Amino acid sequence: SKSVTPLIAGNWKMNGLARESAAELTALVERMKAVAPAACDVLICPPATLVREMATLAEGSGVAIGGQDCHANESGAHTGDISAEMLKDAGATYCLVGHSERRTDHGESNDTVKAKAEAALRAGLIAVVCVGETLDEREQGRTLDVIAEQVTHSLPSGATAANTVVAYEPVWAIGTGKTPTPADVAEVHAHIRSTLAGKADASDAMRILYGGSVKGSNAAELMALENVNGGLVGGASLKAADFWPIVETGL
Ligand code: G3P
Repeated sequence: SKSVTPLIAGNWKMNGLARESAAELTALVERMKAVAPAACDVLICPPATLVREMATLAEGSGVAIGGQDCHANESGAHTGDISAEMLKDAGATYCLVGHSERRTDHGESNDTVKAKAEAALRAGLIAVVCVGETLDEREQGRTLDVIAEQVTHSLPSGATAANTVVAYEPVWAIGTGKTPTPADVAEVHAHIRSTLAGKADASDAMRILYGGSVKGSNAAELMALENVNGGLVGGASLKAADFWPIVETGL
């Protein structure tokens, strides 16, 4: 429903060294300050090494900073991992969980993703739970079943419209320049909405983002669709000049 404040989110993935990242974030922050108060929420998820610096740069601008992943535990013997509490401590207010690159590269199951989403909530972060079908699954006509299964089993217990966001990212649309047709996006989002009913508090108001080759030229059409409450943007979020026209679809 379009009464929900949209969320336009950028996922920088494993991109970003301090100097150029600070310049891009500063450019975004300046644009956001010029439209304050913005009619949409804006989020950047930089690599973990940059979370604290980006959070400091973004303070008071309306640009939120998030992690890209977290461990399910609060602390302990987990070399190389980062807890949701650490991200919160560094200034993050959101955390992505279950991105398809985590599911693929690190073998994360729905159970793992759910535990991470619950860790994000425990730390006081908003969890952005990512789901999406592969090309094989789409070609086999299994998209809606796969998505319902992922949503059902990855959603944190205690999910509400305030603490959880769902991001639909068809795996075959990520970084490929391909997007589903608007009708296909609308169909999956409607299916996610009905899957959420009864599983999350205020599920009608929960943001459902579309991600996968969102760019300035297709954002307005995608964001206008029923049950699309924002976007999760990879490549086109790295430069403020590319990201801004996407943000503007939510303003
Ligand atoms: O999380 C966002 C991402 O997976 C989409 O990437 O580069 O297709 O916008 P991209």
